[in-house]
Amino acid sequence: MVTHWFKNAVIYCIDVDTFQDGNGDGVGDFIGLRRRLSYLAGLGISCIWLLPFYPSPGRDNGYDVTDYLGVHPALGDLGDFAAFMDEANNRGIRVIIDLVVNHTSNEHPWFKAAEEGDPKYRDYYVWRKEKPPDTRDQVAFPGSQSGVWAYSRKAKAYYFHRFYDYQPDLNTANPEVRAEIKKVIGFWLALGVSGFRVDAAPFVIAHKGPEIEKQPHESFEFINEFREFLSWKRGDAVFLAEANVLPSQMSQFFGERGDRMNMILNFFVNPHLFLALADESPEPLIRSLLQVPAVPENCQWGYFLRNHDEIDLSRLSEMERARCFEAFGPEKKMQLYDRGIRRRLAPMLGGDVQKELLAFSLIFTIPGTPIIWYGDEIGMGDDLRLLERESVRTPMQWTAEANAGFSTASPKQLRRPVIDFGEYDYHRVNVQAERRNPRSLLNRLERMIRTRKEFPEFACGKYRLLESDQPAKIFTHACEDGEGKAVLAIHNLCGERVAAKIRLWSDTFAHAVFLFDDTDDAEIIGKDLPIELEGYGYNWVRLTA
Ligand code: NOJ
Repeated sequence: MVTHWFKNAVIYCIDVDTFQDGNGDGVGDFIGLRRRLSYLAGLGISCIWLLPFYPSPGRDNGYDVTDYLGVHPALGDLGDFAAFMDEANNRGIRVIIDLVVNHTSNEHPWFKAAEEGDPKYRDYYVWRKEKPPDTRDQVAFPGSQSGVWAYSRKAKAYYFHRFYDYQPDLNTANPEVRAEIKKVIGFWLALGVSGFRVDAAPFVIAHKGPEIEKQPHESFEFINEFREFLSWKRGDAVFLAEANVLPSQMSQFFGERGDRMNMILNFFVNPHLFLALADESPEPLIRSLLQVPAVPENCQWGYFLRNHDEIDLSRLSEMERARCFEAFGPEKKMQLYDRGIRRRLAPMLGGDVQKELLAFSLIFTIPGTPIIWYGDEIGMGDDLRLLERESVRTPMQWTAEANAGFSTASPKQLRRPVIDFGEYDYHRVNVQAERRNPRSLLNRLERMIRTRKEFPEFACGKYRLLESDQPAKIFTHACEDGEGKAVLAIHNLCGERVAAKIRLWSDTFAHAVFLFDDTDDAEIIGKDLPIELEGYGYNWVRLTA
């Protein structure tokens, strides 16, 4: 069984400015984050993914960068970053960071020089002189963007922007731009990071410019070029791609020999997993798993439940999307861009810890690397009064003390408000309270993380879907390590208790050991394994000969 560190990792995603304020100014920072590394080490995660922390006007939560080689002054400086890296290393925790090179901020010195007419920098971006056609159908954020071209009065031309108009796209077809990107990669690798989450990967390599309205095409060789550089600088560094593409396009992002992206966030299975939870049926999940391509041996899927954006349901049919909206975000204010839901996991699942654990168990056992959005491990809620995707980006809730223990600043000084109302009020939902309760989400998830690390079969083994006599209710799959060892994951998608017989693929197994709850070991008769699960229950099972 081939194991690469990232295939058997548990990733935890953090926004530095909402995690822990270390200097009392109301904004999270690297000093605060460093102090909280003991919590993360205790939780058992093995890799942190940091959202953008670069200097930025902060109009898109840091995805509008003005300097790729720095740290936003509110979050600290390079020294604080290095001290954080050092401590993370001491704890055996790796760090990957967001690489946002599809676009810069319009306040980036390159764009300013381009607007002033500097020919070198002019060619760093994508321009057209003539008035563009209507491009409303090409925007990334329907309702918040009117098109993908904006006029620069200074440059007397239109520039291309796939996202907001203050995020001009970089012209990645220009070799000088690609050289800048490699410089950024090399810089952060030298400071010790283990890789990058590649923002908007399909757009980074897309053909841009006036021809964009024609058949789009991508330059996959750019990924090869970046990957070659990455692996040359640091052999075990990885790219985790944000590539929200159709299953038929996914293999190209991995590359035939796995020589492009090491990991891809699976935006296809994600909405189907939620549809399965909405329908209380494994069918949509199984359907999506059968549709995605096999992954090269040296690559891996990245699985997540929620992240810092809206949950994107656009890959579902209209009726399926409607069912998800009804189940998880029935009110207009919970929905976004006509395609998604801007809520956190816990409120989507009605604060039902059992359902939350069921969902986590799915992404912990389907072959891939699980990724946890900070705060979801304690069942944090959202603040729908905040604009667009800001709703899920409120400060981490540590204790019931002022500002949820996030900051010692006065509440007015906080850049983002803490949740101090309703069911998810920090006085009730916080790390300290979760730790004290042995049956809490946090404590059970911590055990799940530990167990997952004990079974690399889930990450790297040969996986197969299994049949049972309750196919409408339970989802079962097995992972084998190739040396006769196998582990099973069983999930009951419906609310009622279920007893079932699972059909194994071989009659060489005699005994089943259940890894969670007090379930007694079971004897296997022939190829049939008898199991029982509570409503929304799950269990993992070690099979022995
Ligand atoms: C994807 C990021 O996840 C999102 O938050 C951001 O707004 C866009 N890329 C633009 O960078």
